[in-house]
Order: sequence, then structure tokens, then C-alpha cells
Amino acid sequence: MYKPICSIFGPLALLMKLIKTTAELNLVLAQARKSKKKIGLVPTMGALHEGHLNLVKRALFKSDVVIVSIFVNPTQFNDQADLNAYPRTLEKDIVRLGEISSALIVFHPEVEEFYGDQLKAKSFDFKQLDSVMEGAHRPGHFDGVATVVELLFKSTKPNIAFFGEKDYQQTLIVKQLVKQKRLGISIEVCPTIREANGLAQSSRNERLSSQARSKAAFIYEQLLWVKRRFSTASFERLRYAVTDSFAEATDFELEYFEIAQVPELTLSLERKKNTKYRAFIAARIEGVRLIDSIALNE
Ligand code: PAJ
Repeated sequence: MYKPICSIFGPLALLMKLIKTTAELNLVLAQARKSKKKIGLVPTMGALHEGHLNLVKRALFKSDVVIVSIFVNPTQFNDQADLNAYPRTLEKDIVRLGEISSALIVFHPEVEEFYGDQLKAKSFDFKQLDSVMEGAHRPGHFDGVATVVELLFKSTKPNIAFFGEKDYQQTLIVKQLVKQKRLGISIEVCPTIREANGLAQSSRNERLSSQARSKAAFIYEQLLWVKRRFSTASFERLRYAVTDSFAEATDFELEYFEIAQVPELTLSLERKKNTKYRAFIAARIEGVRLIDSIALNE
């Protein structure tokens, strides 16, 4: 049914299984499920980097069987050009995964496997969580994410799934999805992995020139600055300062800067007692959209 991929991708991926359908997955996982092994899932869209690989390592540490899904999900892209430009590097990804462990299961379904001929997201109601920031600026994005995450959960049936804090709003959406649908899957959120200059690792960084890649560290520098000033400056002052800095940094186009109460994601104009806050930035450089965030008062 499944074919070992050593012949295609070399000896490093010797025992790794590349699986394309839920039916094959069910066969491969039947024994593990029967013997109540803990199944871990790491959902990705491929073009793997250290941020993804860290999730995989965490999953190997916390589960008996690890599935890494690689699926560029069309329904979460509100911009066709962004979907077309999304890097697809399956062979390289498999080699990188093989270097971590040959026991991984790579799930790489075709679009038709998940969507048939109905390439459409389902509609969800995540209340406040999907109406701000990424939800407001990328209409339909979280419906697409929730649709594919639900499909991935249903076909892999994990006990535990691993997501990155880099996409903090997405982690809240996924937790809410699990709650609403009573899926009984535990969601583990892993820290943001950064390049040496502080830029959050992202598959989109591949599309930046080397100059832009070093300039893009500016986003995290702004977040660190906000964190340092958080206890003494008003939210308004912080907002003006960040907006001004981006206005001066002409390579960037700031899409939003927000301070939100977490985990509710209520956008905040002033500090309340006993409340946790996080700062969020989305900005474009060389037309590439980057997001990052930071906890302001842990
Ligand atoms: P993708 O962008 O490939 O990211 C897959 C997972 O890796 C997500 O949980 C994301 O938060 C995490 N990740 C990305 N960059 C990271 C970094 N620098 N540090 C830590 N974790 C990082 O997010 C998606 O794909 C999709 O929306 C998906 C959930 C797979 C649904 O299609």
C-alpha cells in the first residue's frame, strides 16, 4: 500500500513512510491505534525550516508515533498570487525529516483527497478570535485553516497535535475548534524559532532577498522595544512609536500593530489589572507578508 521512499529520496529517509491517502494512513496506523500508542501530529504546509523541525522534535519526545503532514491548503489563501508563490519543496523536506528520524510518517495528500471537487472552506464561528488581526486582514483565512485542520484531525486521529506560537492567533483558533467539535485532542504550543538576527523563521522568508532578510529583523526589534516599554508607557504611546518607526522604515508597509488581551484577543487601548497582553505585527517587505508577536507580561 504505502511505499518506502528510500529509493526516491536516498538512504537518510530509509524507513520513512510517505502516505497520500487516509485509507493508507488507516492501514499503517491500525496497529498503533489498537495498542493505544500515543499518536502525535505536526500539521505543516512544507518548505520546512527550524521552526517546523522543532515541532517535530517536540512531537517525537511527547508521542509514540509521529505524523508530519505536508499540505499547501488552498482554502486558507485569500490571495491566489500568494498561494501560487508558496514554496513547494517536498523532496528537500523529506530529506530534512529523515535526518531527524526515519520513523516519521509523512502525510502528503492531494488536494482532491481532502476536497474532492468542492474546493471550499466550511464556515466557522470563532467569535472575537477570528474577527481581529489575521482574521480581519485575511478574510476567510481562519475558515480555511479550521477546515483543513479538522480534515487533518479526522484522517490522522491524533492524541496530541503540535502548533507554533509564531502563529499565535492560529493556536487559539485550533484550540477553539477542538473545543467546539469536542475532538478530545490536546494541543501543544511550541515557542517561536528565530533566525540569528531575531527574524521569526517562516517559509515566506525564502522569498526575501538577503538584504530584506536582514532588514526584516526590524519587526522583532519593534516587538522587543514594546515589551521593554510596556510597564511604563501608555498603549497609545506605544502604538504611535511603532507606527512612526514603520513610517520611517520605507522598505516596510505596516499592515497592523495591535496590543491584545490574551487569550481572548480583545484589542486593548489601556492596561487592566491581572490581565495578560501580547503585541502583534503584520508587515510587508518586498511584497512578502510577515507576522510576529510577543508576550508583554508573562
Ligand atoms: P505552516 O506555516 O507550514 O506552519 C506549520 C506549523 O509550524 C504551524 O503550527 C506554525 O505556527 C509553525 N511554525 C511556523 N514557523 C514557526 C517558527 N518560526 N517557530 C515555531 N513554529 C513555527 O501554519 C500552517 O502551516 C498552516 O496554517 C496549517 C496549520 C498547517 C494548516 O494548513
